[in-house]
Amino acid sequence: MKQHHICIVGGSGFVGRHLAARLARDGHQLRVLTRRRERHRDLLVLPTLELLECNVHDEEALRQAVKGCDVVINLIGILNEKGHNGRGFRRAHVELSEKLLSACKARGVSRLLHMSALGADAQNGPSFYQRSKGEAEQLVMASGLQVTCFRPSIIFGPDDAFFNRFAGLLRLTPLAFPLAGAHARFAPIHVGDVVEAFARAIDNPATHGQCYDLCGPKTYTLQELVQYTAKLCGLRRWVFPLPNWAAYLQARLLEFAPGKPFSRDNYNSLKRDNVCEGDFPAVFGIQPVSIEAIVPGYLSPSQGRAEYQRLRRQAGR
Ligand SMILES: NC(=O)c1ccc[n+]([C@@H]2O[C@H](COP(=O)([O-])OP(=O)(O)OC[C@H]3O[C@@H](n4cnc5c(N)ncnc54)[C@H](OP(=O)(O)O)[C@@H]3O)[C@@H](O)[C@H]2O)c1
Repeated sequence: MKQHHICIVGGSGFVGRHLAARLARDGHQLRVLTRRRERHRDLLVLPTLELLECNVHDEEALRQAVKGCDVVINLIGILNEKGHNGRGFRRAHVELSEKLLSACKARGVSRLLHMSALGADAQNGPSFYQRSKGEAEQLVMASGLQVTCFRPSIIFGPDDAFFNRFAGLLRLTPLAFPLAGAHARFAPIHVGDVVEAFARAIDNPATHGQCYDLCGPKTYTLQELVQYTAKLCGLRRWVFPLPNWAAYLQARLLEFAPGKPFSRDNYNSLKRDNVCEGDFPAVFGIQPVSIEAIVPGYLSPSQGRAEYQRLRRQAGR
């Protein structure tokens, strides 16, 4: 196997950490860019990883950062912006992709793996998130580089922001849990399968110029997923769907809560199902695992991993 010099932008987050560990196993030299190096020093346990503090919004800094790399992976994505007009989403998804493309071109990097999201749609996406992700996709696919683009449904794994977030919210809400977008459908995909697809794509020319939808083996409504979360956490909660007007109101109010747990843009994203039309792309030779095989291992109180997550939460990690 060929060993590459790979720059991972947004590599300090949930997917990035799993991806870095997976790529380090193949012996690739990794350069992970972060805006706050001190926060992510634990990544340095990976022997081939360099952690570079970088203002990724600065074009010159990006040009320097990708220097000497032959593959660039862009994982940057946000679910919420500071304001409410879509500018933050455009900056993180579209403008940053533009700058990264120009940095790649300036440094002669021809291989780019780009993380998008299922439902990304520049023209008709109901949310700023989906439209800006769609716009970024169009940009990178038209860039002339050897691009592979990935569009996963919700990604799950021990440190995910989906099951763990709902587990936390359910614990805070006694008896009844009002749920916006309860009937929206998802096909959660395991983070291990996502990063495996990235790893296998790097040297596969058949994936150049392709955009892949990535889904797990089963689809569920959001209500089913939240009920399942409650069950695994040993919580008796009545999870009930909110009508649209109440869901909108909930989003409006929660935009002011610390950490913006839910926003109008999130609410708009839920207007579309988040499921794949076909099977997992055969080109990767991966059989995706189900939530039932993995999630009990980190949510169920009887499992050691759940206790570990609880202690992490307590410590604010
Ligand atoms: N998680 C999912 O369920 C899911 C589903 C579909 C698609 N995706 C996509 O997969 C990618 C990775 O997701 P993730 O869950 O790993 O996200 P994450 O944990 O939030 O990590 C994203 C990384 O991007 C950087 N970042 C965040 N906001 C930024 C900003 N405004 N400007 C510059 N950098 C910023 C952060 O790095 P530093 O703070 O270190 O700079 C962070 O480590 C994203 O593109 C996301 O849209 C995720």
